[in-house]
Amino acid sequence: MKILVTGGAGYIGSHTCVELLDEGYEVVIVDNLYNASKKVIRRIPQITGKNVGFYEADIRDYSQMSHIMNKEQPDAVIHFAGLKAVGESVEKPLAYYENNISGTLTLCKAMQESGCKNIIFSSSATVYGNPAVVPITEQCPKGACTNPYGWTKHMLEQILTDIQKADPDWNVILLRYFNPIGAHKSGLIGEDPKGIPNNLLPYVTQVAIGKHPYVRVFGNDYETPDGTGVRDYIHVVDLAKGHVKAIDKIKEHPGIKIYNLGTGKGYSVLEVIGAFSKACGKEIPYRIMERRAGDIAICYSDATLAKKELGWEAQFDLLDMCRDSWRWQSTNPDGYGEE
Ligand code: NAD
Ligand code: WQD
Repeated sequence: MKILVTGGAGYIGSHTCVELLDEGYEVVIVDNLYNASKKVIRRIPQITGKNVGFYEADIRDYSQMSHIMNKEQPDAVIHFAGLKAVGESVEKPLAYYENNISGTLTLCKAMQESGCKNIIFSSSATVYGNPAVVPITEQCPKGACTNPYGWTKHMLEQILTDIQKADPDWNVILLRYFNPIGAHKSGLIGEDPKGIPNNLLPYVTQVAIGKHPYVRVFGNDYETPDGTGVRDYIHVVDLAKGHVKAIDKIKEHPGIKIYNLGTGKGYSVLEVIGAFSKACGKEIPYRIMERRAGDIAICYSDATLAKKELGWEAQFDLLDMCRDSWRWQSTNPDGYGEE
């Protein structure tokens, strides 16, 4: 069975390609390398001992996508490609709507015309907005997003739902990720943010290697046990395995399905810093700062539906996630570096 992976050279995509290849799938990546390194394309075979197909192409380019879909004839598409920086999306809404929405429409058009109507889409817990209750189940109503990035996920979920409704030959699985962190145990692939990281874990790892003096903790006056924000951090390899399970599900012709991919547990910023200090063997300095605009206090999943219907649940704990992030960061201090 052949799987086409858009954005497969990126952080979550690369880990998913590894798990797919390990499970015996044929994998073809389409990535424009906007936020990824070509080195990933060499490291995936290094880890798995298997070849991976690669097209340096933009999903917004219909003629290229149509050519690729018709030539490769994949059985399903896992669609990761997109822009994902929350703050940047507020500055550049047009770029985000254009890349994420137009790109997905073009991809779906090329899929439909080539006869492939199976898609697994990278959505996000951000679609829940500020949840009324935690843990968050898939039935929890979607909320108002606080940034254009979040709205692209919100809208794309609706667009894919409508495409499936109009043509029941389509199978659509929307996966709502919580907070992916960690890296492959080989230390060969991991998260490589450009510039100063916005997300907590990459910032913590950069403090650990001395690129920043301390972690800025955004607020300690939330209604949480220690006052800092609580999130459902999930090991990227667990997340990647969730996609393999979603491929199993799509073979059953399920129509439209939505699953949370999280661990079901929440950890505070201070707990993350504590776990990372343990993993890297040195104290990570931090300072309490003002709250960050747009942040919510608590967000963690109810992960029971994915367990029940996909037979998937996260295996790794917070210390595993920190240990693997640290291995990646300490052996690749500048990420993938220059080509
Ligand atoms: P990433 O930036 O590492 O990967 C995205 C990949 O898509 C990159 O390799 C980039 O070069 C590629 N890409 C972007 N626009 C493209 C285009 N027009 N054509 C072809 N390729 C294009 O991000 P990631 O963290 O691996 O996230 C993957 C997906 O998961 C994204 O859709 C993201 O929104 C979603 N997601 C991520 C998180 C997270 O915290 N990392 C959480 C929830 C959802
Ligand atoms: C986690 C916690 C911060 C940085 C974002 C997106 C979301 C999803 C995942 C894609 C919060 C605190 C952070 C720092 C800190 N992405 N923090 N100091 O905000 O839960 O989610 O990434 O879909 O859409 O919004 O993740 O890692 O930025 O923050 O104290 O330097 O860490 O306040 O409580 P977030 P995050």
